[in-house]
Amino acid sequence: MSHSIQIAVVGSGYVGLVAAMCFAEMGHQVICVDNDERKVAALQGGDTLIHEHHLPELLERYRNTRVRFTTDLAEATNECSAIFIAVGTPQSDSGDADLSYVEAVASEIARHITSYKVIVEKSTVPVYTNEWIRRVIERNGVNREMFDVVSNPEFLREGTAVADFLHPDRIVVGADSERAAALLSAIYAPLTEGDYYKNEGAIAGCCSTSAPPPLLQTSTKSAEIIKHASNAFLALKISFINAVSNLCEAADANVEQVARGIGLDSRIGPKFLRPGIGYGGSCFPKDVAAFRSVAEQMGVDFSLLSEVEKINVGQKKRFLSKVRSALWTLRGKKLAVLGLAFKGDTDDIRESPAIDLVEMLLAEGCSVVAYDPAAMKRAEAELPASAQMRYASNIDEAAADADALLILTDWPEFAQLDLRKLNATLRYPIVIDGRNLYDPNVMFDHGFTYMSVGRPTITQTHTREQSKVPTSAGSQK
Ligand code: UDX
Repeated sequence: MSHSIQIAVVGSGYVGLVAAMCFAEMGHQVICVDNDERKVAALQGGDTLIHEHHLPELLERYRNTRVRFTTDLAEATNECSAIFIAVGTPQSDSGDADLSYVEAVASEIARHITSYKVIVEKSTVPVYTNEWIRRVIERNGVNREMFDVVSNPEFLREGTAVADFLHPDRIVVGADSERAAALLSAIYAPLTEGDYYKNEGAIAGCCSTSAPPPLLQTSTKSAEIIKHASNAFLALKISFINAVSNLCEAADANVEQVARGIGLDSRIGPKFLRPGIGYGGSCFPKDVAAFRSVAEQMGVDFSLLSEVEKINVGQKKRFLSKVRSALWTLRGKKLAVLGLAFKGDTDDIRESPAIDLVEMLLAEGCSVVAYDPAAMKRAEAELPASAQMRYASNIDEAAADADALLILTDWPEFAQLDLRKLNATLRYPIVIDGRNLYDPNVMFDHGFTYMSVGRPTITQTHTREQSKVPTSAGSQK
């Protein structure tokens, strides 16, 4: 039977804020600490600051009851038995994770420890970070018996973060002390014992079956490696299918059929085999680089990860070549761009391949009119509006009189365009789809020249028979 525990979460970014709200949803009392006063004030006022399903409703429900927002880490350390560190670990110039925020928080916590605490690494950190945190706390005069450091990596995805947190495939607890492991087990008991899923108002998972998740207890070092290895493996899967898609283009095969054929092997699985313009976001690029760097520092050859990165960069260049091959010259061409976020259902543009591509197109002398359902405000800070770079308030405005339409983010609404109207709105009916959102045959029937990733190009100069792509399960999304 689970009981309520006092938890501090330090850092109110994606991981920290989602963890804080989900711990509250699981029945715990949470103090969420951030040193950014404006952020704390916004959260206290009910503004989540990030675009994430369920977060507004959870914030509304718990902000004055189970969750408190503060800048006061001393008070949080004092009142809570578990302190989750969820601050940023940005990429430094060398590719390493910059752990200065983690260190600063650890020394600040150390200054306020007066009773036993479990310090939990929630941020993605390289192996051995727990030992550094332990050393920092000890250097600040705290006795070894007064604390433990645990690694509890988070696997949530942006866009489905709350559902992922509450319905994880697994919970990993890396602990070298039974006392600390027991506290983490108690915190996650509402999930592992299944009580949470029996609640009438429980938030549903995206794809899991709501069976209670297993809690895997490991050493702290193993848990740290599990997080980096998971993200690196997923990035590898994406680069692998992207490389296969290039082969399919060369051989006039269809990557959707190939991915389905591969993914039906239960040892491989169908997920993360969607080809496109490369992975982006705040995790994969940073974590692959950090994992490669950790391996290097430990004298381990992991050049496979360099290949993963190389293929990822190559995907953007290939897409640019497609635009060039569709339009011949690029200078002065007007392009409609759908999507700026690094993936659908988020306003996040960090390491977005869409932003990189827009920058490349602008450098080639194109003018761009972009539309994204959520990421335009953030994009504008990076790519200011100008005569060459404009932001449209809807899809039609972006497409009006454009020489071609480019799909760069897999927002669900971009897969449901009114094709008849689109054809009439564009100057030329050319669609270059970096996310394979359409069946090429449907695009042919609507009069488009259609280029996608790893599938035969459809051009209106061919006869229907020549151009038609054999349909198969999976070619239509
Ligand atoms: C990822 C991990 O999935 C998550 O477990 C971890 O905690 C954080 O990093 P996230 O960055 O939110 O989550 O996005 P994800 O859905 O994994 O997509 C990452 C990138 O890969 C996106 O740019 C996406 O478009 C791309 N992608 C994903 C593909 O190109 N093909 C795929 O098949 C899947």
